[in-house]
Amino acid sequence: METPITVVILAAGLGTRMKSKRAKVLHEAGGVPLIERVVSAALEIAAPENVFLVVGHQAEQVEAALAGRGVQFVLQKEQRGTGDALMACRERLARRPGLLAALYGDCPLLSAATLRRLVAVQQQSAAAATVITTTVADPTGYGRVLRDGVGNVRAIVEQKAGTPEQLAVPEINSGIYCFRAELLWKHIDQIRPDNPAGEYYLTDIVEILGRAGWTVQPLLLDDSTEVLGINTRVELSVVDRILRERRTQQAMLDGVTIEKPETVTIDAGVVIGPDTIVEPFARILGRTAIGENCRVGACSILRDSRLGDGVEVAPFTMVDSCELEAGVRVGPYARLRMGAHIETGAVVGNFVEIKKSRLGAKSKSQHLAYLGDSTIGQGVNVGAGTITCNYDGERKHPTIIGDGAFIGSNSTLVAPVEIGARSYVAAGTVITENVPANALALGRARQVLKEEWAKKRRASKAE
Ligand code: UD1
Ligand code: CA
Repeated sequence: METPITVVILAAGLGTRMKSKRAKVLHEAGGVPLIERVVSAALEIAAPENVFLVVGHQAEQVEAALAGRGVQFVLQKEQRGTGDALMACRERLARRPGLLAALYGDCPLLSAATLRRLVAVQQQSAAAATVITTTVADPTGYGRVLRDGVGNVRAIVEQKAGTPEQLAVPEINSGIYCFRAELLWKHIDQIRPDNPAGEYYLTDIVEILGRAGWTVQPLLLDDSTEVLGINTRVELSVVDRILRERRTQQAMLDGVTIEKPETVTIDAGVVIGPDTIVEPFARILGRTAIGENCRVGACSILRDSRLGDGVEVAPFTMVDSCELEAGVRVGPYARLRMGAHIETGAVVGNFVEIKKSRLGAKSKSQHLAYLGDSTIGQGVNVGAGTITCNYDGERKHPTIIGDGAFIGSNSTLVAPVEIGARSYVAAGTVITENVPANALALGRARQVLKEEWAKKRRASKAE
């Protein structure tokens, strides 16, 4: 019979060193909250009903962030240390047989493969527990691993409690353990808060098990990256950089050219087709999907948007929650948002903002315009400076422009209004009434011309 496995993730801590109002485990690295990554790894080795999260500080928010993952929650009322956090699970878990893997929610690079290895190593041994250790150049802040004569773990001493010799040990505790569950529950009560911090340290369990005649074995990892713990925002940035680098490398291996990848941000949920080129400092976020042969210009930001094949996004463009069909060109300095849908071959140029609107195939709005709540047909030319006045101070109103219409520069379209197909709106017109198809609408004062006026003015000034 297979050994039952329970996973406990500690995520109740205050995260004091983050100096944040937000719980540490909700801070993001690689665009994903830390806790989500740990939970994802846990779910690869255990079913959701066997994964328990200890929550406390901002418990509601942490639970909300994980809604839908099906994992279980245990409340640690007061944050009195990692040992106390595990004790909070006693009622729910003490009668569970098999193995219990304990992880910390602030260790987001841990892979499912390593977790599996930890469980396998513990399963095959007679030890009471296995703890993942590694050596790091600067062990400051981590618990140090003290070995006995045969290489087992004798004790783990915390930074605040260690002697200078102990703190000189480069081998650190990752905070990832696998216990024989029944032994953990039998001995966990012996953890006492007799340290300078006055906390219940889970790490004390190692010595306690030793005194009871049990061994705790190390699983030493060569690569320490996986067990990087996050306590400060400096460490958060280190992990973020590692995750970002992995993501851009994956995209490049999938056939995407990325210029200066160290400056580019691509979120986990993004899909990019081959032969697309991503220029420096681009940010491609959320659930964005980009087709083949596209170009994402320098310093552009794309979020939750769909781009067909051959789309060109020129530099400094923002696209949020939009659809750009094949062959569309946008930017530089364009802003598209809230469901803007740009049909195939259409062009959106510099300083054009498009909100909740549809721009038909091959239509163009090349310069300086605001198009909001509008439906624009195919082959329409929207002149520079065209503004849809979609808001009356209380409500938004629609503008409809038919196929092939020509909107002269600096036109003001006061919505709700409809411009018929193939009609013309003269430059500088304020449209307040519907324009039928094929018409010309002129809505501006006629030009007045005073011959020789300037000359006369100069003459009168000279007198
Ligand atoms: C801990 C280990 C240390 C190890 C390091 C690895 C202890 C005593 N020390 O130190 O040996 O090298 O992790 O990163 O365990 N938490 C709770 N309730 C609490 C306190 C903490 O749920 O009352 C949670 C936190 O949310 C966090 C995790 O436990 O996710 C670790 O706590 P943290 O305070 O960051 O421990 P470290 O000082 O990093
Ligand atoms: Ca930590």
